[in-house]
Amino acid sequence: MRIDVVTLFPSMVDAPLSESIVGRAREAGRLKLGFSNPRDFAEDRHRTVDDKPYGGGTGMLMMAEPVYRALKKVKKRDSYVILLTPKGRRFDQRMALELAAKKNIVLICGHYEGIDERVNNFADLELSIGDYVLTGGEPAAVAIIDAVTRLLPGVLKQADAVINETFTEGLLEAPHYTRPGVWRRMKVPEALLSGDHKRISGWRRSAAMELTGKNRPDLINREAYNGGSYEDDRNAARDEE
Ligand code: ADE
Repeated sequence: MRIDVVTLFPSMVDAPLSESIVGRAREAGRLKLGFSNPRDFAEDRHRTVDDKPYGGGTGMLMMAEPVYRALKKVKKRDSYVILLTPKGRRFDQRMALELAAKKNIVLICGHYEGIDERVNNFADLELSIGDYVLTGGEPAAVAIIDAVTRLLPGVLKQADAVINETFTEGLLEAPHYTRPGVWRRMKVPEALLSGDHKRISGWRRSAAMELTGKNRPDLINREAYNGGSYEDDRNAARDEE
């Protein structure tokens, strides 16, 4: 898979994705990561990339043309183009699975107050990583690339890790323990030491239910994770209109 990131600050994305599992996936060629900087496409000698918003308001906006040219440099015919913005659809594990199936992705990072709205015409999707405002799209790009890369074939040693984990089955994962069996007078739950696989999976199921009820009651009874795709949802929403 190839991902290109359109950003004024490439090292904010490159550096954190050079370590650990994603760093190794890049070295092994499973993920190719490229960068395109709108600053390199600015049109004046000051290399200006931002300007004041029409109609007034605080802060500066990224101008359309340098972003467009930076995008054009890396976009292929089959590229899936994503604009990162707190106003976008919220990223989740299901979308990570869908993105992991694509060959070419371009992520566009806004900075300052955002990007001239007209750039949106060149994006397939607006995406947010959560309901909070970052200084720019770069940390969001890091989160999305990390979540997608670990789903690529050969990146994780145990493919099961991807199937059984938090969110894939719609519940939070049960707690895990490793040695020692007693640590500071706290014991590992009996069932996990039993060697009885049925008992262990029963314990995990009820621990997962309990944890989900406590931390994420919104996930209980939610069927979205089990079937269908993001594209299906989008079509369903369109049909309802
Ligand atoms: N840019 C600023 N905040 C963001 C967010 N929450 N998600 C994606 N891009 C952003």
